[in-house]
Amino acid sequence: MTRVYNFSAGPAVLPKAVLREAADEMLDYQGCGMSVMEMSHRSSAFKSIIQEAEQDLRDLAGIPDNYRVLFLQGGGSTQFAMVPMNLMRGAAGNPGHADYIVSGTWSKKALAEAQRFGDARCIATSADTNFDRVPDMANIQVNADADYLYICMNETVNGNVLRELPDAQGKPLVADMSSCFLSEPIDVERYGLIFAGAQKNVGPAGVTIVIVRDDLISDTDLPGVPTMMQYRTHADAGSLYNTPPCYAIYICGKVFKWLKAQGGLAGMQKVNQAKAQVLYEYIDKSELFRGFVRPQDRSLMNVTFTAGEALDGEFVAAAKAAGFENLKGHRSVGGLRASIYNAMPIGGVQALVEFMREFEAQHSCSSQSM
Ligand SMILES: Cc1ncc(COP(=O)(O)O)c(C=O)c1O
Repeated sequence: MTRVYNFSAGPAVLPKAVLREAADEMLDYQGCGMSVMEMSHRSSAFKSIIQEAEQDLRDLAGIPDNYRVLFLQGGGSTQFAMVPMNLMRGAAGNPGHADYIVSGTWSKKALAEAQRFGDARCIATSADTNFDRVPDMANIQVNADADYLYICMNETVNGNVLRELPDAQGKPLVADMSSCFLSEPIDVERYGLIFAGAQKNVGPAGVTIVIVRDDLISDTDLPGVPTMMQYRTHADAGSLYNTPPCYAIYICGKVFKWLKAQGGLAGMQKVNQAKAQVLYEYIDKSELFRGFVRPQDRSLMNVTFTAGEALDGEFVAAAKAAGFENLKGHRSVGGLRASIYNAMPIGGVQALVEFMREFEAQHSCSSQSM
């Protein structure tokens, strides 16, 4: 088998143990005589899979009983619309209002989408410094009429993370955790709604996990909102209103068990901190590579950096040839990016740093000899 380290921002590396187990069960899931891919979502075998996945997630993240867990489709991008469609509800036909903190590419997109549905406003942003930091949120003023305050916890493209939550001033806090979900402990009660596309830290593409507090789910039908876009539809049906992404949910369930075996989210956090430290420490000392984000706001998941415009392309190609895949930065910002999600072993990060060291040595030699 070809050995590579996959630094993709998503879909991304999954734990080898999970992939092996899935391979073993591919043709015959626990004596059912069929693959999970072939199974009815109404079968008792699949109901056990989805219920066990939910329970394991609840245990891992400490999700209180007054929150619902939904396994949906449509990716994080669909949540950019579902959040305002469900939560930004003005009284008596008036448009609703919401406040957004714009810390990078994804929160900017979420704001633009929300503006299609009502009065969504940016109340803090770091756009003026190209999102090389998170916005200053010390003195934010959440508008009295806001139905919620929105944040993107970890900006995958830009590589910054909110280490402190803003003061939501009594409003429900909505968080896009797509690229940091289950990478460290979460205090779920501080949020009204959390969502995460699974394809970065917890599973394959195709399933999006939503954790939403009961009181934010409408008791009644929302006029004008398609059935599939209402949280209520999925909450009432235990995520089985229609055919869910069965196989993706099954893999997430396995990842949840794997996470438990790593010491849960506290255990995972320690490993993630150690991995990020190896990479950032080297970048900080390097004379060739330079990070994009100021140190206190750097993501533990998506490390963005550059070797300079002239060398980035050469680095990506050389790294690929040496078995380090997907190190090119997002097409909108360029540069380099190493996504080091839960399933990336520390050995992969150490090997990358070794490779970067050699690349740097070669390039400082060639620049000296010129
Ligand atoms: C933080 C964040 N939010 C939302 C999205 C959009 O997710 P999707 O491609 O699942 O729609 C992404 C995708 O990379 C992301 O990183």
